[in-house]
Amino acid sequence: MKFRLTLFTVLLAGATGFGVAHAAGSASAGQAVYSSQCALCHSNQPGGVGIGPSLAGVYGQPAAAQGNYDYSSAMKNSHLTWNDATLNKFLAAPQATVPGTKMPYAGLTDAGQRADVIAYLASIAGK
Ligand code: HEC
Repeated sequence: MKFRLTLFTVLLAGATGFGVAHAAGSASAGQAVYSSQCALCHSNQPGGVGIGPSLAGVYGQPAAAQGNYDYSSAMKNSHLTWNDATLNKFLAAPQATVPGTKMPYAGLTDAGQRADVIAYLASIAGK
């Protein structure tokens, strides 16, 4: 029973995580953050590979889901699904959130910029 309740809470939290929290960010402001902070390594086109994997459909996907990208074992074993909460945490502190990740990025310290870039990622994923 306790397990069921916990599972229900997790599912509920996941469901409300979509479409709600990223409304706090601005996708158009996030596009500018993406261009200056992420585009160097990440394509925003489906299947595009750079130093990092394509982020076109990453919002709402499990971590390490791009079949054409060679992820670190840390990312493969992270068991994360990318939503507002997990992206917010990972983008603030990539190495602390997924120890051993090969994403060579110190983190985006500005919470407003994180919300904006997450809103942008949701928009390009059609979410
Ligand atoms: C200097 C290159 C670089 C920069 C800059 C960078 N990343 Fe990454 N990113 C990577 C690499 C490499 C990986 C693969 C990590 C792994 O396999 O451990 C990655 C992985 C990711 C993932 C996980 C993808 C998946 O399919 O699971 C997300 C999400 C992500 N980056 C978002 C961002 C965002 C948003 C920015 C800008 C704020 C950014 N990254 C900036 C190189 C970079």
